[in-house]
Amino acid sequence: MNRIPIKSDRDIELMRETCRITSLILDAVGDIIKPGISTEDINTFVHRMTLEHGATPSPLNYKGYPKSVCTSINDVVCHGIPSPLVVLKAGDIINVDVTSYKNGFHGDSSRMYFVGGRAACSDAACELVDVTLEALQVGIATVKPGGHIGDIGAAIQEFISSTKRGYGIVREYTGHGVGREFHENPQVIHVGKRGHGDVMKPGMTFTIEPMINMGGPKTILSKVDGWTVRTADGSLSAQWEHTVLVTPQGHDILTRSN
Ligand code: MF3
Ligand code: CO
Ligand code: CO
Repeated sequence: MNRIPIKSDRDIELMRETCRITSLILDAVGDIIKPGISTEDINTFVHRMTLEHGATPSPLNYKGYPKSVCTSINDVVCHGIPSPLVVLKAGDIINVDVTSYKNGFHGDSSRMYFVGGRAACSDAACELVDVTLEALQVGIATVKPGGHIGDIGAAIQEFISSTKRGYGIVREYTGHGVGREFHENPQVIHVGKRGHGDVMKPGMTFTIEPMINMGGPKTILSKVDGWTVRTADGSLSAQWEHTVLVTPQGHDILTRSN
């Protein structure tokens, strides 16, 4: 019942292809993000590019989600819904979260973008985005056979604490197994204790996707659309996400950009 799927070599070959498409889409999104475009424009772009690669966008109709990608600006933590009414402006920070599905496997990854370029964004916003990427990398670095899922959250928590910025780590949303299902076991919490949780084995595939708030860790779910998650205190939030494979040697980042 709580089993964690182990992917065969063939499964991994297929999943690499899906994850490569997800990564290519995120590369291309970086070229279209600019002041004046709407999050609906991002949705249209991601939807079309996904289909061009023979894949389908996993978010569309997932538990009733109405769009093909999540676009989360500034104080939106995750699951922002694209809309023609939401227009990017210089100085915004935005997370674009892409999941594609092809040949029976999902590939899930998200990145942060600076609207108008890094120079348009506040130093504090840039630092939050940079620290959050480093948190993801620190988490990924713990992944190896025999390690515990709790090692990931422990490393992220220790790293965020070491920055002494007072950032909050979101608890309500987590990383997750990904493969034949969009969300499967194990759950990957972004805080934790070393040596706790499931033991990592070769062939496991899961996401690590820390959401880090400039202020407190608490979030509020929109009562209007039932999806948009915001920081409770209105502070900025950042997130980066990769799909990671446990290999006999350690790990492989399946959604890395090439
Ligand atoms: N891609 C998100 C994640 O990292 C999930 C989005 S669910 C959706 O798990 F329905 F909002 F698309
Ligand atoms: Co995602
Ligand atoms: Co995910």
